[in-house]
Parts: sequence; structure tokens; C-alpha cells
Amino acid sequence: MTDNNSPPGSPKVNPDHNSEANPLPKDDSSLENIVRRFQDSMSLAKKHKFWETQPVGQFKDVGDTSLPEGPIEPPTPLSEVKQEPYNLPSPYEWTTCDMDSEETCNEVYNLLKNNYVEDDENMFRFNYSKEFLRWALRPPGYYKSWHIGVRAKTSKKLVAFITGVPARIRVRDEVVKMAEINFLCVHKKLRSKRLAPVMIKEVTRRVHLENIWQAAYTAGVVLPTPITTCQYWHRSLNPKKLIDVGFSRLGPRMTMSRTIKLYKLPDQPATPGFRKMELRDVPAVTGLLRNYLSQFVVSPDFDENDVEHWLLPTEDVVDSYLVESPKTHDITDFCSFYTLPSSILGNQNYSILKAAYSYYNVSTKTPLLQLMNDALIVAKKKDFDVFNALDVMRNESFLKELKFGPGDGQLHYYLYNYRIRNALRTSELGLVLL
Ligand SMILES: CC(C)(COP(=O)(O)OP(=O)(O)OC[C@H]1O[C@@H](n2cnc3c(N)ncnc32)[C@H](O)[C@@H]1OP(=O)(O)O)[C@@H](O)C(=O)NCCC(=O)NCCS
Repeated sequence: MTDNNSPPGSPKVNPDHNSEANPLPKDDSSLENIVRRFQDSMSLAKKHKFWETQPVGQFKDVGDTSLPEGPIEPPTPLSEVKQEPYNLPSPYEWTTCDMDSEETCNEVYNLLKNNYVEDDENMFRFNYSKEFLRWALRPPGYYKSWHIGVRAKTSKKLVAFITGVPARIRVRDEVVKMAEINFLCVHKKLRSKRLAPVMIKEVTRRVHLENIWQAAYTAGVVLPTPITTCQYWHRSLNPKKLIDVGFSRLGPRMTMSRTIKLYKLPDQPATPGFRKMELRDVPAVTGLLRNYLSQFVVSPDFDENDVEHWLLPTEDVVDSYLVESPKTHDITDFCSFYTLPSSILGNQNYSILKAAYSYYNVSTKTPLLQLMNDALIVAKKKDFDVFNALDVMRNESFLKELKFGPGDGQLHYYLYNYRIRNALRTSELGLVLL
């Protein structure tokens, strides 16, 4: 993998490639593609000086079915967990970021806004909102000590960040306490100095101090060893803007007006009883979701507190809708998406791309295709430019039909200190990380 800030084909903000309507033709012979294929083929052979020392599935063990599933290393007694933080290079110091503080939250927001994930062509960069960060980092039972920053000692400027939040993740029949690790970011000027491994070791230490020994995380780069590799798909809601900013291109033999017509959606959801989720729906939604997620090999083990936090609508952060049967008043179906805008870098006319990301969707009575079409309709009404979805869970059943086009990046899912014997199919994964 490359130690730069732009994971190969950064999946989260990639242009709409290869969709029927607006294919960005894949020119396999371009130098860029040849280089990328070469790098991809090399990444398995590549040395990972840090990751080779960690309890993660190693490339050399891929295909060795004699190795047992489950923890790679047993927990150590808590008294043996290192009590002091790891050493940073001397100009830097650790800080715990209090996300309740407006000032600290602003600093984190600005670090990420200027230095977090970009697409391959450096046209877009994630712009997680402050409200989103507070939501993502303060779920039930969260630990402040897992919101870790690095400051320059002299200026006190925040230059790096990594976080964990606690989660119960089910792997087959086993519910495992884990940390979900996210928002790893090193300021652009401090890249390639091996700060990331120190930050990963420090968050791991703080997770161990809470007697938790496993973690889940995603990355756009190939590391030892993905449990599965997903693809993002993109559904244009505002095709003109997406084309204007270079997110997608006009397909061959397509005019702008034909493209706009192709992606046009009805004004109102079609499903009778389709409405926003409310607090009183938490028990019913928890039941629906638990039942649905039980079919996947890896998924969160949500209880009512988790559902209230993660899925009850929060303005400009997470949207959830459900279908209440007009006859029985049973809650039969559920869909949700989160709000993650990206900055558009260097465009005269637009600075923000408003993207919705498919989260958890459950259909029992309404066909999933119809439910997701209703989700697209409400997202369009809320002025999102694009609706993104991974090919996880049952999503493949609606992507093509609802005019999503495949992105060109990949998102790799990983577990720390937990071995899965064989890689999963994306449809066996029931976990969406933010
Ligand atoms: C990701 C980032 C923090 C890595 O920092 P860096 O300065 O490029 O790399 P460093 O020299 O500190 O460390 C390199 C090590 O970190 C690992 N690493 C790089 N990106 C990683 C990631 N996303 N997750 C886990 N490990 C990662 C590398 O594999 C390497 O270890 P190895 O030798 O075992 O392969 C930095 O590039 C960045 O902030 N990028 C933009 C934001 C981003 O992509 N964040 C990750 C989102 S998943």
C-alpha cells in the first residue's frame, strides 16, 4: 500500500464510474491504471513493518484453514497492560479530545476538514460536520479516553487524531466486545513519519485498559488482512451538479436533459405508511433490526439504547424512515442513511457535495427495491446530491435497478485480534462503519 493520504480508489468519495447513464469509461491502458494494477498486485507481497507485528490475520496465513477462528491472542491480565502512553517524537504530546467542548470539537472538525480522506484525484475531501462527530463519538458507554489527539508541544496545534467507540459485534454465534476505530488522521505536513503506528498502538492500549481486546475498522488501503472488500455504488440525485463538479460524466449519446430525466424521482414516497422514525418506534425497530441482522456472519448486536442513539433521526446527521402498516400499525420495514458531505476542492461554483450514505435497511413486507426508492425520494427532497451505498447485506438486490453506478474505489473491512477462517462475501457482512 502507499503511505499517502489517498487510499487507492478511495471509495467514500469516488466519482460515478461505469453507470449505464454516465460511464466514465475505464481506460485500462492508461498509465495510472497500469500503475494501480501493479501496486495492487504487489500489495500482497509488500512488507508491513508495523502490521506484521500485530495480532491480525497475516497474508502468509491466507488459505490456511487449520488456524482456528476467534481471538488470535488471549487477553493479558489488566495489571500487565502498559500504564503509560507510548512515546511520541519529542515535538508532540498526547491530548484527550473532549468532544463536549465546543472549542475542542472545532479543532477536530478543522483537522479533519483539511486533512482527512480524499478521493484518488484529490477532487473531494470528507467534511464530517461537528454534530456528526459528536454523534459518532458519543454512543452509549463511550470512553472519553478513546478520543485521542496529538498536539505540537509549542503551538498546541492539533496535528493528529484517532478514535475508538465501544460496540458489541457478533461474529457467527459469538457476541464480542470491540472497539470501532475511526477518524485516523495525520496532518498533511506530518505524513510518512510513522506517527500512525504509534497512534494505533496508543488507542489499542487504551482499549485494553477497558478490558476490551478486539476491534473493527475499515480502510481504503490494503492491510493484513481484509475480512471482506466492498465497493461503493452511487445514485445521482442532482446529476447536473455532479457532472459540473466532475463527480460523474455525461454518458456517451446522453444529453444533460436526458440525464436529468433518467434520474428524476417522484415527489413523494410510494409506500403507504412510510414515515419518519420516532422515539416510540425504538422497540419495534430494534426487533426488526436484530432479526434482520442475525442472517449475516458479522453484524452489530444492537439493543434499544444503541438503536435510539444510532438510528433515531438527528437533523443533518442520520435519517430513518419506517413503514407502519395502515391496517395493523405494525412496523414492517425500515431504512436509514447518514449525512456525510464532502468538500469540493478547487471548483469555482460549488464548495460542498451533499452525500447521503445508506446505513441499515430492513424489509419484511415492502419490497427492498420499493423501500430504497422511497429512501431516494426523501433524500432528494432533502437536497442531497448523491446517495451512496455499499454492496453489503442485501444491497446488491436494488443497486442496478435503482440506477446506482459502481464507484472505482474499494473499502476493506478488518478485525483486530480476531481471525476469520475465510474472507466473507460482501453480502455476508451486516456492518456499516461511519
Ligand atoms: C492514514 C494516515 C493517518 C497514515 O499516516 P501516514 O503518515 O501516511 O503513515 P505513517 O508513516 O504514519 O504510518 C505508516 C503505517 O501506517 C499504516 N497505515 C496507513 N494508513 C492506514 C490506515 N488507514 N489504517 C491503518 N493503518 C494504516 C501503513 O500501512 C504503515 O504501516 P505498515 O508499514 O505496517 O504498512 C494519513 O495518511 C492520513 O491522515 N490520511 C488521510 C486520512 C485517512 O486516509 N485516514 C484513514 C482513513 S481509513
